[in-house]
Amino acid sequence: MRVSVAALLVVVVVLHVADATVLRPQKLLFPAIFSFGDSYADTGNYIIEVDPRPFNFSPYGDTLGRPTGRASDGLLPVDFVANAVGLPLVPPYLDRSQDFSKGANFAVIGARALDQAFFLEQNVTSPAAPMNSSLSVQLRWFEELKPSLCNATKLDCDDYLGKSLFFVGEFGGNDYLAFLSAKSVEQTTQTFVPVVINAIAAAAERLIQHGARRIVLPGNIPMGCLPAILTLYPSPNASDYDSYGCLDKFNALARYHNELLRRSARELRAKYPRAAIAFADYYQPVLAFLTAPALFGFDRSTTLVACCGGGGEYNFNATAFCGFPPATACEDPSRSVSWDGIHLTQPAFRKIARSWLHGPSSVPPILTLALEL
Ligand SMILES: *[C@@H]1O[C@H](CO)[C@@H](O)[C@H](O)[C@H]1NC(C)=O
Ligand SMILES: *[C@@H]1O[C@H](CO)[C@@H](O)[C@H](O)[C@H]1NC(C)=O
Ligand SMILES: *[C@@H]1O[C@H](CO)[C@@H](O)[C@H](O)[C@H]1NC(C)=O
Ligand SMILES: *[C@@H]1O[C@H](CO)[C@@H](O)[C@H](O)[C@H]1NC(C)=O
Ligand SMILES: *[C@@H]1O[C@H](CO)[C@@H](O)[C@H](O)[C@H]1NC(C)=O
Repeated sequence: MRVSVAALLVVVVVLHVADATVLRPQKLLFPAIFSFGDSYADTGNYIIEVDPRPFNFSPYGDTLGRPTGRASDGLLPVDFVANAVGLPLVPPYLDRSQDFSKGANFAVIGARALDQAFFLEQNVTSPAAPMNSSLSVQLRWFEELKPSLCNATKLDCDDYLGKSLFFVGEFGGNDYLAFLSAKSVEQTTQTFVPVVINAIAAAAERLIQHGARRIVLPGNIPMGCLPAILTLYPSPNASDYDSYGCLDKFNALARYHNELLRRSARELRAKYPRAAIAFADYYQPVLAFLTAPALFGFDRSTTLVACCGGGGEYNFNATAFCGFPPATACEDPSRSVSWDGIHLTQPAFRKIARSWLHGPSSVPPILTLALEL
């Protein structure tokens, strides 16, 4: 399961080259993008449905010049993908004033793959889900919207949805944070990762039944390298940390999640030969940033430190989260990998999106999904 140094170096080099390549404007590859997920993909639903704080206030969005409800200083991978394929930024579904003919984003900050009922059955009551926005709820939103997108003839609908690009994820991060509040990391890994993966795979399958044929399944980031996890689960035992200073057992959880999700992608491809299913990796790009930060423009001394936070070794304090005083943002977010201890900065997301579009971090690369079938 461990990533070999040689393989990682290849990723480091290829990622760097991909980032240096100037993207030429692409012709319209996909008629629309539909996105499901959590805070790594929400472009404005949470601030409408739950709370404008803190994500609709500075310093969120400072790099863009204004806050937009995105949990970063700027844009997210789904935005960079939309840009690269000539589509507008994917509008949040809960903003009913938007035109969804070129896509809709159902992702919500804090969303989980599993429903609240599952957590209650497992006696996991804390922290409570912030809202009713699990993957199954997001799928119902899509099903609610679908008739307004295409219903002239079944053929038209199959053509439109079949050519559209679907993102199912990232999902799982919030499920695991909830389980970890009540269970050990080992128990969370063994017992819950397969359940989360089944929910994601079932959602992809439900979308295929609706006519989707180009689906991207983003995996999990190295959780043990997040300033939030490093702060909330410190260990006195040095052997719990890897050579990057990350908590190994939490990274092992993410690696297991990614391994099972890759396998699900393979199984779906075998079951639905007319669908192109990609696994999009967050894990290796983030490790590449930690391996050679200077190559990507990041500051080596702060790879595990949040740009925006309320102080402490990793600049993460749950009671002084980014956006709430006395938390402050660093001078230059583009030098940091981590924005607020949980989410990444715009440059980190941009580099990840490029390696998803062109490879090597999406298999197959997203741009080739326009061709495959
Ligand atoms: C949840 O708690 C109840 C009451 O303590 C117990 O009977 C049940 O077995 C627990 N369920 C799980 C999945 O641990
Ligand atoms: C969540 O949404 C579902 C479907 O819309 C609904 O049946 C359920 O009652 C909602 N739950 C809460 C707690 O709002
Ligand atoms: C589909 O049907 C609904 C209700 O009849 C209508 O409002 C909508 O405009 C139609 N959508 C398309 C894309 O034709
Ligand atoms: C530290 O962790 C290692 C590996 O899990 C274990 O073998 C060792 O006993 C632990 N040491 C202490 C002091 O807990
Ligand atoms: C976290 O922030 C709170 C609120 O400002 C403060 O009272 C507390 O001392 C901080 N904790 C640490 C460990 O810095």
